[in-house]
Amino acid sequence: MAHLVTGIGQLVTCAGPDGATPVADRSLGAADRLGLRTDAALVVEDGVVGWVGDASAAPAADTMTDLAGRAVLPGFVDSHSHLVYAGDRSAEFTARMAGEPYDGGGIGVTVAATRAAGEAELRALLARRVAQARALGTTTLEVKSGYGLDVEHEERALRLAAEVTSETTFLGAHVVPPGADRGRYLDLVTGPMLTACAPHARWVDVFCEPTSPHAFTEEESRRVLLAGRHAGLGLRVHGNQLGPGPGARLAVELGAASVDHCTFLTDADVDALAQAAGTTVATLLPGVEFSTRMPYPDARRLLDAGVSLALASDCNPGTCNTASMPFVVALAVRELAMTAAEALVAATVGGARALRREDVGRVAVGARADLAVLDAPSHEHLAYRPGMPLAAALELPGGGEG
Ligand code: NIG
Ligand code: FE
Repeated sequence: MAHLVTGIGQLVTCAGPDGATPVADRSLGAADRLGLRTDAALVVEDGVVGWVGDASAAPAADTMTDLAGRAVLPGFVDSHSHLVYAGDRSAEFTARMAGEPYDGGGIGVTVAATRAAGEAELRALLARRVAQARALGTTTLEVKSGYGLDVEHEERALRLAAEVTSETTFLGAHVVPPGADRGRYLDLVTGPMLTACAPHARWVDVFCEPTSPHAFTEEESRRVLLAGRHAGLGLRVHGNQLGPGPGARLAVELGAASVDHCTFLTDADVDALAQAAGTTVATLLPGVEFSTRMPYPDARRLLDAGVSLALASDCNPGTCNTASMPFVVALAVRELAMTAAEALVAATVGGARALRREDVGRVAVGARADLAVLDAPSHEHLAYRPGMPLAAALELPGGGEG
């Protein structure tokens, strides 16, 4: 079944000017990498893009969607979220807005609520959050565990996450659970918990943040990551969120796919990330700074140094309770001084690189037909009209799914 999408006001391919230039070519600026086309059409077959070209040259197809001038872009690749949880921490957010700092201590509140929730309830909560993200244009979504923090509940979180995405991340090393012995907990995370969770996970992650009494030191984080690697998982790191620390350095040392937050980086961290740009992506999560009243990360410094950047939501009940990638893009433009092109590349192909995926994040022949449509004529409207319901995953007969 071939399906023709036509009437596209602006097509953002994120695949270079001729639709084929490798996106990793850093000699291209983000504006070039956007790969804008006007009067374009595309054909989708079996969930994959089969043809992209001028609308006037479009081949015949079995069915057709006319978008009446709306823009099309790759669906957002949200490479960082914590969507498997129960409970509510709005009071913590309110206290923060009144001046309370964030130190990760509230994670224990979500752990208690999540353990107490039944499996059906948790599955329904997760499904609703995934549907909300998709309704905002996200078509690839990484989902972490990290609110179970015992073997039974971490395994359950990852089993549920694997029902909605292939991008599942074991985050048993989110914090030391309240009351637990640190050494014994690390033995559990790197032993029986990892064994139970690895079959449902693609990645392992650790909250490497020595400035938080709840999170993990460099040595502890290295141990968790090496155990995860030994179990066949790819590596991701939460680092440099609350203060300067070893997270980014450790991510580069171990060849992690991504180090996320990157709010407090030294010059040496930035140099190391720039050297490692082909391997380790720096993922910025500006919704966190918005929701914690922390200073935003310095995206320009990273871009100027040649660091490979992604933008993601970090949707979680503590530091950022939104999965809206359009909101993240708007923050990146307004608060991180990224251009609209840089932000969009980071939220699509950047996220794909952070997940080591070639098949998503761009519109090109052979890529998945995971598309977002904007109720607007161009991608600039995402930042220009923040909070407006512009983006949604494009639902097509035979098109891409979550
Ligand atoms: O990425 N920093 C660690 N983990 C989450 C927050 C988790 C929470 O507070 O519930 C984050 O910001
Ligand atoms: Fe996170």
